[in-house]
Amino acid sequence: MNIAEEINKRKTFAIISHPDAGKTTLTEKLLLFGGRIHEAGAVKSNKIRKTAMSDFMEIEKQRGISVATAVMSFEYQGLLINILDTPGHKDFAEDTYRTLTAVDSVILVVDSVKGAEEQTEKLMKVCRMRSTPVIIFVNKLDREGKRPFELMDELEEKLDIRVRPLTWPLGMGSMFKGVYNLMEQNLYLFTPGKDRIEEDRLLIKGLEDPMLDEKTGSHAAQLREDVGLIEGVYGSFDEADYREGRTAPVFFGSALNNFGVRELLETFIRLAPHPGPRESDMRSVDPYEEKFSGFVFKIHANLDPRHRDRIAFLRVCSGRFQKDRFFRHVRLGKQVRFATPYSFMAQKKSIIDEAFPGDVVGLYDRGDLKIGDTLTEGEEFTFRGIPSFSPEIFKELVNADPMKSKQLEKGITQLTEEGLVQLFIQELGRRKIIGTVGELQFDVIAYRLKNEYGASCRFERLPFARACWMTAEKPEDLKQFMKYREQQIAYDRDSNPVYFAESEWMLNTIISKNPGIVFHYTSEFKTGGSEKANSAGAA
Ligand code: G4P
Repeated sequence: MNIAEEINKRKTFAIISHPDAGKTTLTEKLLLFGGRIHEAGAVKSNKIRKTAMSDFMEIEKQRGISVATAVMSFEYQGLLINILDTPGHKDFAEDTYRTLTAVDSVILVVDSVKGAEEQTEKLMKVCRMRSTPVIIFVNKLDREGKRPFELMDELEEKLDIRVRPLTWPLGMGSMFKGVYNLMEQNLYLFTPGKDRIEEDRLLIKGLEDPMLDEKTGSHAAQLREDVGLIEGVYGSFDEADYREGRTAPVFFGSALNNFGVRELLETFIRLAPHPGPRESDMRSVDPYEEKFSGFVFKIHANLDPRHRDRIAFLRVCSGRFQKDRFFRHVRLGKQVRFATPYSFMAQKKSIIDEAFPGDVVGLYDRGDLKIGDTLTEGEEFTFRGIPSFSPEIFKELVNADPMKSKQLEKGITQLTEEGLVQLFIQELGRRKIIGTVGELQFDVIAYRLKNEYGASCRFERLPFARACWMTAEKPEDLKQFMKYREQQIAYDRDSNPVYFAESEWMLNTIISKNPGIVFHYTSEFKTGGSEKANSAGAA
């Protein structure tokens, strides 16, 4: 097969959700369809249970499991589908944000009872920034949930995206009868049962077919009314709108009962984009180019201090990745070669000889690779779109053992490279400020610094709530601002200046008082893709 055929065979996506909406269950059902696993419960996903803080090692263990399921590939109708797993736990949201940079589309799972939850909103923001195409799966229809039209309104409002139902439920909870496929005009009748693969598909000839009344009783009249409304309110479905990330098609079902999943999968296969072009700092890189390129979006460390190796996850963007071949590590300006590149299948990883755009390769690394690194066949460019996002909790890292400051320095640098936390350095006194999205990471850091590097530390909470990267048309403006606000300025890992705000309100005040400065919520603002705090409002 040539490269073009390989690319046209692939679809790479992530399933995202608020914890407990059903991501793990849905992943498992998709793998069942792909024949990759043969029984439910076989996916030891990196589902991180709600665990007490002191149990963070348990969480790390569970994260360890995630290496095996970081990518799950299966074949379906001649296509190779790569599902990139994302941690459900909110404290590891940064991991998920970065994984989203390595996919071509997303399936978002929403709990029909709970609607659009906090984590869903945040993840969708990242999708919208990148115009990632999104399909929504409304799950748990076997429970008494929100009314479908209400839910559609809520999704549009909270997720800030247009929705277009492609299936529609008949009843819910104990009265759930099935879903109607608005495109094919088929009716799928619901029969509970966890491990079913086949759905009871009823071919009806349009909504007026008397069989509809026969099978669904009083639900038939409601369905006719609903369908009329849907067509009036949402109009026709435009595939281009989906591919450009403007409209999210919506499916209803119950992952646990394997209901509505085949519908979702079949539409996904048809609609979801193949690996597409990626932006670099020099040019747009087309997947069909002959020469290989790719970037690292995730690093997983070996927690065993005797083995310092880590696994870097590389998304192939163009050309052909090959085992034992020399590639250029653009940041370090040197040649690198990998003797044991892995592909990841559910529960199994195996050494591969080659990989193609859309694939994710696991690379053993002894410290050369960090998140955002680009590998090429010689050309000098760096992929964009792997930004840091504003952390939400900030603490100063204080060395608790002055004899071990070198170890602390090395440890924290490496942990930052893994993307576990963000490190900011304040010029004033070389203060180290750690930013995270969850409290859990502070425990993980203290433990790992001690265990893997022999360093002791403590954390002192800082009164900040937001970090904004800054640019200014006139360098003087920025210089002036930074001088005046010295206490609240630090530098990120790439020496970009960052402003720490105590609150959203404070940030808004600062923004309005400093029109010459542009504040950004992410670290990547040079070629677009960043969210401007100024224009987006600081919400
Ligand atoms: P997550 O990965 O998004 O965190 O969610 P997960 O799939 O683990 O599902 C969370 C809970 O919701 C699980 O129950 C799961 O069985 C249940 N669930 C998933 N899909 C459906 C559905 O369609 N209907 C209903 N009623 N429940 C569903 P649990 O009790 O927390 O875990 P478990 O003991 O079943 O694994």
